[in-house]
Amino acid sequence: MNEKRLRLEGKVAIVTGAGSRGEGVGNGKATATLFAREGASVLLADMEIARANETLQGIEAEGGIASTIKVDVTNDDDCLQLVETVIERYGRLDILDNNVGNSFRKSVTEIDPDEWDNYMEMNLKSMVLTSRHAIPRMIETGGGSIINIASIAGVRASKAAVYTASKAGVIGLTISMAADHGREGIRVNAIAPGAVYTPMVSWRLSEEMRAHRKNTTALGTEGTPWDVAWAAVYLASDESRWVTGSILTVDGGSSILSRHAYTDAEIS
Ligand SMILES: NC(=O)c1ccc[n+]([C@@H]2O[C@H](COP(=O)([O-])OP(=O)(O)OC[C@H]3O[C@@H](n4cnc5c(N)ncnc54)[C@H](O)[C@@H]3O)[C@@H](O)[C@H]2O)c1
Repeated sequence: MNEKRLRLEGKVAIVTGAGSRGEGVGNGKATATLFAREGASVLLADMEIARANETLQGIEAEGGIASTIKVDVTNDDDCLQLVETVIERYGRLDILDNNVGNSFRKSVTEIDPDEWDNYMEMNLKSMVLTSRHAIPRMIETGGGSIINIASIAGVRASKAAVYTASKAGVIGLTISMAADHGREGIRVNAIAPGAVYTPMVSWRLSEEMRAHRKNTTALGTEGTPWDVAWAAVYLASDESRWVTGSILTVDGGSSILSRHAYTDAEIS
């Protein structure tokens, strides 16, 4: 019998925010790790190179192929450099996972206008900057898959105005890019995670809040970054060849429940 083919064998990927900000595993780190396990060569992009290097160590220890690059994805020159580097190192680009983002818990009366701009740049404009350089390179080799990390906070209020607005923007950007570039072989999808337990939120959650988050899902269980990462593997692979412009919710069913599920600090 033939050996089983890995799901991303021969593909080349960029993951932005491929490090984790704290102890444990974040969405970017888990996604980069699974991409490598499934046979992709992965360029690990992060503003904090030490964080990307930690992800690299884990991948190399498992025999995967990856390397790191220090970039700020809110800077257009850095994004150009990112895409040129992936071509130099691996010869092509098939997958772009736009993972960088962060929540900010302020209403419009509390937020400073500069803070608003900074979060919109980090959570939304960054995806435009990476994609505008990536798409022409993907087209050169027949197309590719772009995965934008949104949030269920993009379709529900979460007492974090700029986060909700930026993630709603990610959803709009995703369907727009999918329509604009489909005929060029580019698929663009978003993942909308729910309350996943990652270093992005763990620092502000008490055990009680964590238990409440579990209870507010249909499944009654907690999400992990690996749940987000498996969704990204599917969207990156040829298994999703006819899927574009979709928003894949990964939230244990929390957003299908009609009761008011979250307290102030819980949504992310
Ligand atoms: N944790 C959750 O519950 C949850 C829920 C919904 C959506 N999300 C989304 O998941 C994504 C974050 O995932 P994570 O767990 O990997 O977060 P993380 O904070 O652990 O890691 C993000 C990485 O991005 C890097 N980074 C930040 N700004 C950057 C920039 N300008 N340029 C380059 N790198 C930068 C950081 O150094 C960090 O290593 C975000 O888009 C977030 O909105 C998370």
